[in-house]
Amino acid sequence: MTLDALKNGRIAVLMGGNSAEREISLQSGETVSRALTEAGFNVFAVDPKNADWMESLRSADFAYIALHGPGGEDGCIQGALEILQIPYSGSSVLGSALAMDKVRTKQLWQGAGLPTAGFEILSADSDWQGLIDRLGKVFVKPACEGSSIGMRSAATAAELKEAFGEASQYAGEVLAEQFIDGAEYTVGILGDEALPAIRLETDNEFYDYEAKYVSDDTRYLCPCGLDASEEAYIAEMSLKAFRALDCSVWGRVDLMRHSDGSFYLLEVNTIPGMTSHSLVPMAARETGLDLPALVSRVVALSLGGGH
Ligand SMILES: Nc1ncnc2c1ncn2[C@@H]1O[C@H](COP(=O)(O)OP(=O)(O)O)[C@@H](O)[C@H]1O
Ligand SMILES: [Mg+2]
Repeated sequence: MTLDALKNGRIAVLMGGNSAEREISLQSGETVSRALTEAGFNVFAVDPKNADWMESLRSADFAYIALHGPGGEDGCIQGALEILQIPYSGSSVLGSALAMDKVRTKQLWQGAGLPTAGFEILSADSDWQGLIDRLGKVFVKPACEGSSIGMRSAATAAELKEAFGEASQYAGEVLAEQFIDGAEYTVGILGDEALPAIRLETDNEFYDYEAKYVSDDTRYLCPCGLDASEEAYIAEMSLKAFRALDCSVWGRVDLMRHSDGSFYLLEVNTIPGMTSHSLVPMAARETGLDLPALVSRVVALSLGGGH
């Protein structure tokens, strides 16, 4: 189906869902629906929290997925849409599933020779002191959550054990990654191109849930302050990291820069936030794409065999 033909059809905007990021998803869904309508599409909302959501999807000619976190961003919904034979936005089942799992993500990057901080998988009988001796200060996180949930740093065996206890309440394995003390960047991807990088600055110890969604004091810098060759370097690294996971169409790559100047990849988001103050819309605007143009590009890339 072409983009023009789709204007005579109907787009289901999948929003809400059952993950911890439901509220953010409802906001993303609202923004996407408005932008698609403005771009000339007919839209209707579908919330996978409702029992009849699959039934209501059947009349859709395209599904725009505005769900975040497990169940929406991890390949499950994408698989259901494959079976229903409804074209959908964003990454494939494989890319979505790999990007949702930070352990598999990092293993693939290591295999592809891409820079990511050293890490170990934790378990209840881990040698806490031994790990601190090997990696130094670490950052502990659940492998399959988003929004900085269940994460914190640990510099001693006792802190590490406590951080594991907290992170293990969430989805997936728990990993301890070498702590990176430095600046944080994020790079939006649209098709074959990296959007201008954004630098994130917070007064909190890290870019935690509060800094992401509550605080007015978090600073987003775009242009990000890197010189042109450094920016080109992280753009290229982000595209390689995105493709290594079989991700496609659009997404966002998070990175940090160590105080020694080297960059490390953190993770890929296959369905980043799409509220008007979210990061991908901010970077797209910098290249002249407003929200209706951005969502139209996502639909066009998805229809064009983007995944
Ligand atoms: N290795 C690390 N060292 C220091 N801070 C980290 C490290 N990994 C993550 N962080 C901080 O935690 C935040 C969330 O981590 P991230 O891996 O992007 O998970 P998610 O965004 O899915 O919750 C990052 O934005 C960063 O501020
Ligand atoms: Mg992140």
